[in-house]
Parts: sequence; structure tokens; C-alpha cells
Amino acid sequence: MALLEVKNVTRRFGGIVALDDVSFEVFPGEIAGLIGPNGAGKTTVFNVVTRVYRPDAGQVVFDGRSLLRTPPHRIVRRGIARTFQNLELFPGMSVLDNVVVGTHASAGWFAERRVRKAALEALDEVGAADVAGRPAAGLPFGMLKRVELARALAAKPRLLLLDEPAGGLNHEEVEALGDLIRRIRKGHDLTILLVEHHMNLVMGVSDRVHVLDFGRTIAAGTPQEVQRDPAVIEAYLGEAPESPS
Ligand SMILES: Nc1ncnc2c1ncn2[C@@H]1O[C@H](COP(=O)(O)OP(=O)(O)O)[C@@H](O)[C@H]1O
Ligand SMILES: [Mg+2]
Repeated sequence: MALLEVKNVTRRFGGIVALDDVSFEVFPGEIAGLIGPNGAGKTTVFNVVTRVYRPDAGQVVFDGRSLLRTPPHRIVRRGIARTFQNLELFPGMSVLDNVVVGTHASAGWFAERRVRKAALEALDEVGAADVAGRPAAGLPFGMLKRVELARALAAKPRLLLLDEPAGGLNHEEVEALGDLIRRIRKGHDLTILLVEHHMNLVMGVSDRVHVLDFGRTIAAGTPQEVQRDPAVIEAYLGEAPESPS
């Protein structure tokens, strides 16, 4: 059974149809890529799944139960965590506190100790333990991306949504990120939905890839299948190629 089912989801913003009858499934343990040109609707998928936006039509089912009745602040507790395309860290807070707040822990001394432990473990896992006590402001961009990933991991999700984790990273950092994503999936028994513009990364780590264009699913399959799909090639023509950063 699929862990996440997006079923016939439509979401409009005024006259823009950001998602137009989109359906796809993500299976337990897989890394599913979600790609498409800018404006295709990828981030909107994340925002619908995490209940930031309500779909105008359609269903989102997680682990057999509808997500549409789950309020946004309960999404993490249901087992879904995400990172953001544009970093959403608090610059004045320490790295550790940034990770702690992301876990949406309930109050109380015991809960706090447990959460700090999980936060430190997650920081260690992404290679950011050394900066745990430093304010987020001023850290290198690549490190901040790792901190965001740690924040999502510390919530111990079953489904991890990554929104362009390679955005703004240099070549070495992207390579390291690919290894990290694979390691995380293994170590945590996680399912990952990966939105990514960096083709080498997404094609290298994904088991299956779903392709959106203008809010519609135009292809789905293995990375090999998707890469030679004429509709996909067509959708990417006219897009500036990913700069070899
Ligand atoms: N909150 C919003 N208000 C208005 N338009 C939005 C909003 N969020 C997304 N859109 C529009 O929906 C479309 C899909 O956006 P998005 O999901 O961010 O695309 P992607 O992540 O694939 O680049 C775009 O045309 C975008 O401008
Ligand atoms: Mg986006």
C-alpha cells in the first residue's frame, strides 16, 4: 500500500491553476523524485500535503487516512516533515534551537530533554554538530541547508519532503548531499519525496520520478524511463539548463 496518495488534487490561486487534477503515489521506503520546470506546481504539492493549502478538489491520504482533516500543526505528529525551498530558519536563534523548534515538541522538561537529544543526533548525522551552539546567522549557506535537513530529521518523520535541497550548493556539496540522502533513507527507514532541479542528483538517488508541467502530471517512471520520455524532454526545452555549479 502507498504511504502517500495524492488523488486528483486541484489547487487554484486566482486565475492560476497551480495543480490540475494531479495524482501520484509514494511507496514505503522509496525515494520518489518530483521534478518539473519552474512554476510547475512542485512546492504547491508540498504545501497541500503539509496542509499549508487546502486543495480545491481531490484527496491526500497518508498511511491510509485522509490528511485533509489534520490541521497543519499536527502534520509533524502524523509523521511528515519537510524542508523549504527558501531557508526558513530563525537567524538570531542557535542552530540547536532552530532544530528543536522544528520538532513541534510538546512542552515539559522530559519532552525537552528528549527533543534536544534528537536534535543533536540529527545535527551530528548531517555533519552540523560542531555549529550547534552558534547562531544560524552568519553560517555558510551549505551549512544552513544541512541544518534545515536536521530540523526535519529531528522530528523523526516517516515521510520526509525535501524542496530543492541542492539549490545554491556547489558541485562537491551536491555530491555529498546525494550520499547523505541515501544514508538517511537507510538509517531511518524513511520514505522521501524529493523536489529537485538538479538532474544528476534527482536521477541518481530516486527510485521513481514524477514529472509535473503546468500543474499536470506528464510522466512517471524510473529515472531512465522519464529521461527519455518525449513529453518530459519537450517540457524542459526552453528551460535554462541547470548551470554546472
Ligand atoms: N500562494 C500563492 N499565491 C499565488 N500563486 C501561487 C501561490 N503559490 C504558488 N503559486 C503559483 O502556482 C504555480 C506553481 O507554483 P509552485 O508550486 O511554487 O511551482 P514550483 O515549485 O514547481 O516552481 C506558479 O504559477 C506560482 O506562481
Ligand atoms: Mg518550488
